[in-house]
Amino acid sequence: MAEKVILKIKKKEYELPVVVGSEKEKGIDISKLRGATGGYTTLDYGFKNTGSTTSGITFLNGEQGILRYRGYPIEQLAGKSSFLEVAYLLIYGELPTKAEFESFKNEITKHTLVHEDIRKFLDAYPERTHPMGQLSSMIGSLAAFYPESLDPNRGEDEVNRTIIRLLAKMPTLVSWIHKRHMGHPVIYPNNSLSYVENFMRMFFGFPTEEYDMDPVIVSAMEKLLILHADHEQNCSTATVRIVGSSHAPLYAAISAGISALWGPLHGGANQAVIEMLNQIHHGEGDVNHWVDKAKSKEDPFRLMGFGHRVYKNFDPRANIIKKACDDILKKLKIDDPLLEIAKQLEEVALKDEYFIKRNLYPNVDFYSGIIYKAISFPTEMFTVLFALGRLPGWIAQWKEMMTDKQPIGRPRQVYTGENERKYTAISKRKSKK
Ligand code: SDX
Repeated sequence: MAEKVILKIKKKEYELPVVVGSEKEKGIDISKLRGATGGYTTLDYGFKNTGSTTSGITFLNGEQGILRYRGYPIEQLAGKSSFLEVAYLLIYGELPTKAEFESFKNEITKHTLVHEDIRKFLDAYPERTHPMGQLSSMIGSLAAFYPESLDPNRGEDEVNRTIIRLLAKMPTLVSWIHKRHMGHPVIYPNNSLSYVENFMRMFFGFPTEEYDMDPVIVSAMEKLLILHADHEQNCSTATVRIVGSSHAPLYAAISAGISALWGPLHGGANQAVIEMLNQIHHGEGDVNHWVDKAKSKEDPFRLMGFGHRVYKNFDPRANIIKKACDDILKKLKIDDPLLEIAKQLEEVALKDEYFIKRNLYPNVDFYSGIIYKAISFPTEMFTVLFALGRLPGWIAQWKEMMTDKQPIGRPRQVYTGENERKYTAISKRKSKK
């Protein structure tokens, strides 16, 4: 028998259906609430308790630290799969057969180049442009080169071509943004390489020499990109869904997702963590000083890389990345003092009542920057790397929203402003200050 709940308003009772998911999560369906109750809506700042959709893509359990993509535990995918295979899984719902994966890879290689006019965009940006701003506008501008993509309802083939183009061109754009920042010549894709190898060569290679591909680094990047690939209805994914729900082009929805990810409370935290660790390393206060700052209500500072809206026990990705950190630094023979400081910070915080009471643990951003730094990525590129990883998740979530023919996203509000009042001539107005 379908589960229901009763809402009682004054003397009247209203039955609300309950949606039960495949992992027994329960959502009270309020889609008819306003009409049935004569105008009552709900209020939930930051949607902390509000589900925006059902979804079959990613399952996470914040209490038990579980994360699965299409049912596969993240630990298995991070240990055994490749980023491109995980992208296929997220977008198309199943792990590909050998033939399906070969065809997918082949499609991607046809689209790794970008229109040469894109280079004019790079020349136009000021020197100190943040790469996330560049990436967001360049991805949005791809629609200009593919006008047929402006209508996301043009049919499955067209939609899939846009999906393939996004996956294929993102590594090229990310690498070219970096090369322009460095004043170095851009490197064109080499389609004989794997997806991640191609990216590493474009990002770090030079036209004057063969790029020395290090399998240890490639493997670490595969793992990091897999761990960032999707995370159900996080801020940037919810942004992609709501922009896509107006039937704006997919390029525009992804561009909006990149902008949302940029914030230091979201994907921008991985850059902020390294900046914080560097401040500690350069003597701007020891670990306890920064923990106290993070606890102070008077201080807006938060311990970057700590805390999570959903994980109230541990972020399984942080555990995997922390271990990968030790492995890669050892293999690359790097002794990074920031790793030691990060571990001290974690140790102090996890013993502190403030963090324990609020279930604040290291999240995906706490250790990832240390690996990116060990691989020699510039700090300001860290969030761009998060976007590169999250792209297949954004695409998968957008595709699910469009396939389900979900309505345009348009939340309600509770108005708390002025009641009706009359317009007065400027000569009759008195300042309210
Ligand atoms: C990501 O949602 C996702 O899935 C995101 C993500 C993904 O894969 O897409 O996992 C990626 O964005 C990870 C989070 C990266 N951001 C940071 O590391 C920035 C620091 N973290 C915080 O800003 C915070 O923890 C959030 C934004 C991550 C979550 O904030 P919430 O859920 O809105 O919780 P909150 O701000 O209401 O905090 C609850 C309490 C507050 O204290 P009280 O008002 O109860 O006294 O905890 C405190 C907060 O002040 N708190 C922190 C803290 N995080 C929360 N205090 C100090 N340091 C922190 N990091």
